[in-house]
Amino acid sequence: MKLAVEEKLIVALDTSSLDEALQLVEQLGGRVITFKVGKELFVNCGIQIIQELHKLGKKVFLDLKFHDIPNTVAGAGVAAVRHGVFMFNVHAAGGQEMMVETVKRTNREAELLNRTRPLIIGVTVLTSFNDKQLQEELGLNRSVQEQVALLAQLAKKSGLDGVVSSPQEVKLIKQLCGSDFLTVVPGVRPLWARKNDQKRVMTPEEAVRAGADFLVVGRPITQAERPVLAAEKILKEIKEGMGC
Ligand code: C5P
Repeated sequence: MKLAVEEKLIVALDTSSLDEALQLVEQLGGRVITFKVGKELFVNCGIQIIQELHKLGKKVFLDLKFHDIPNTVAGAGVAAVRHGVFMFNVHAAGGQEMMVETVKRTNREAELLNRTRPLIIGVTVLTSFNDKQLQEELGLNRSVQEQVALLAQLAKKSGLDGVVSSPQEVKLIKQLCGSDFLTVVPGVRPLWARKNDQKRVMTPEEAVRAGADFLVVGRPITQAERPVLAAEKILKEIKEGMGC
């Protein structure tokens, strides 16, 4: 997917109130096009945050990581189409039938409403998991990387547009699933930002060079002393990574 520099950046609105989120959006509005709404913000203020972002002309990545039986996830996907989000995600571990049904019903709904279907992104293995937990707690006989590879390929086969991945996994996913299969990458840290709780990080420039399509950045921007300046610096690094 050919994206402009500004289209590659997604800012994570990890706040607990609508006011706080909208303050950030107001500050960053001149520079940032797409914002991520996750579980905390969504459970606190519901659909209103999506409506407010749309009123301001912003795009929404609805990060609710749906994981349920096929009919339920497809129904949530149809609702996401109706609310006009740009992107939403599902757990690839929900299985092929769930993903295929979600793609089918969201395609149908988007056609009915004459709008573009949101990008549907799969979550493979949460980055909070390590090999030991995967094997001992979930009883899987694979490493995290092998499980990521398996689920990314299942997501691709099921018609999803891409997966969330750590910056380190982008190359492997592109090799296995093709360069058009999107990678949405958190864990991005410019050299001048704190790592916080992110462990395996890459700079924006490195992540883009590795092939990341979308970069999800939260605290380096939202908790910066001057968020607009931080966003501008990151956009510059993205541009450098794109070689333009
Ligand atoms: O503040 P920070 O840049 O670390 O925010 C990253 C965002 O991406 C957060 O909303 C976090 O929940 C999300 N995320 C992540 N790692 C994943 C999946 C999502 O950091 N594997």
